[in-house]
Amino acid sequence: MDKIIIEGGKPLFGEVFISGAKNSVLPLLFASLLTDEECVFENVPQLKDVTTALTLLKEFGVDAEHHGETIRVRAKSIEKPFAPYELVKTMRASVLALGPLLARVGRVHVALPGGCAIGARPINLHLQALSKLGADMTLHEGYVLAQAKKLVGTNLYFETSTVTGTENILMAACLAEGTTIIENAAREPEIIDLANCLNSMGADIEGAGASKIIVRGKRGLKGCHYTIMPDRIEAGTYAVAAVATQGDVIIRNCDPEHMQALLTKLSDSGALIENVDTTSIRVRGIEQARAFNLQTEPYPGFATDMQAQMMALACVAQGTSALVENIFENRFMHVCELQRMGAHIEVKGSMALVQGRENLIAAPVMATDLRASVCLVIAGLIAQGKTEIHRIYHLDRGYEKLEEKFLKLGANITRVPEHATSIPVESTPWQQGIVH
Ligand code: EPZ
Repeated sequence: MDKIIIEGGKPLFGEVFISGAKNSVLPLLFASLLTDEECVFENVPQLKDVTTALTLLKEFGVDAEHHGETIRVRAKSIEKPFAPYELVKTMRASVLALGPLLARVGRVHVALPGGCAIGARPINLHLQALSKLGADMTLHEGYVLAQAKKLVGTNLYFETSTVTGTENILMAACLAEGTTIIENAAREPEIIDLANCLNSMGADIEGAGASKIIVRGKRGLKGCHYTIMPDRIEAGTYAVAAVATQGDVIIRNCDPEHMQALLTKLSDSGALIENVDTTSIRVRGIEQARAFNLQTEPYPGFATDMQAQMMALACVAQGTSALVENIFENRFMHVCELQRMGAHIEVKGSMALVQGRENLIAAPVMATDLRASVCLVIAGLIAQGKTEIHRIYHLDRGYEKLEEKFLKLGANITRVPEHATSIPVESTPWQQGIVH
């Protein structure tokens, strides 16, 4: 295990290049199960979750090669449609094997993902929708066994907007008999990326990105050569870091269209945002940010995956900010760690009230989930002094070359083994005469 050490208090300057989207490449890799032809994916980020997804595909008997930012996958045949708990518990997105395997081979045995740090995260809506397409579901010893002689298109309505639930149904419906209409579908850009890729494979999907999607089933799909869209959450994370450190950063290889809710909120807080070109924005935080209020909502609302990062900014904004988390029931795990850095935060149910202060105080802190981890990185970049962040394996799931990218922006950030003694003895409170 490693830890990250940050000597904070320095504004970020320069340019950062955004990688392919984690939450797009994962469904796309599972979409390759729908065809026996080769699928080639470009702009693939080097992430732990991508490695896990490839391991799972190979478990199914799929050929997969990963070279740099390119992955070649070919599911000539599916020998073993079984996703073991050991893998699923490390990556919830493994549930995305359900739809394509049901459609391709008519049976699949997947471990239920269970909860995670941010909430219970059930998959009941996935299972209900797949049952309506004709699958028989049985739950046994923590696994779901799904079987279907054939899937038949139907009208579906999601009572809650679910990103991976919509993705599972999109993939299953591509090979169903007849037409499937999905109402209250998720509208995230990753859904559009998946639909575009599936259509390039010969699927017939209309309306992705809107709340009503129509899928006309086909008998089979062909291979594809597809480039993954940029990661809007990674881009948003660097934008917040630029503002929080009162820096000046150009974010390249992003899609500003996918970031409107965040960029509007950052502008409201006093940041200067300008479009450099269609795939780059310049973000400047030239004064202490103003307090802001936000509510997380399904896209195009404010992304829940950006809430923790914005809370780090709120900690040093002028005034009191109110952040409401409407998507997950336990996505304030970063609050306790920010409080250890001197943040004034009061949590009342799904709302966190953050009273901004001049600065944060460097301290050893612990990461608990992917976005909470990067929130603590931003807090470490803000705080004067040396911050140590432990359990950073969470970060490796969703941020490619994080230290390298921040180093290039002028941050003083290093990754060392967990046991490395990093705080010089003379800096302990006793040596400084603070504690007697
Ligand atoms: C996707 O998760 C993302 N993950 C999450 O990103 C993201 O936070 C989330 O969408 C919301 O945008 C991937 O795309 C791999 P949901 P997903 O189903 O699909 C409830 C990150 O940090 N729900 O849209 O699992 C659920 O509990 C990760 O990159 C049910 O009740 O989220 C939640 O309250 C974290 N039953 C709400 O719906 C279900 O069957 C939205 O969840 C499914 C979901």
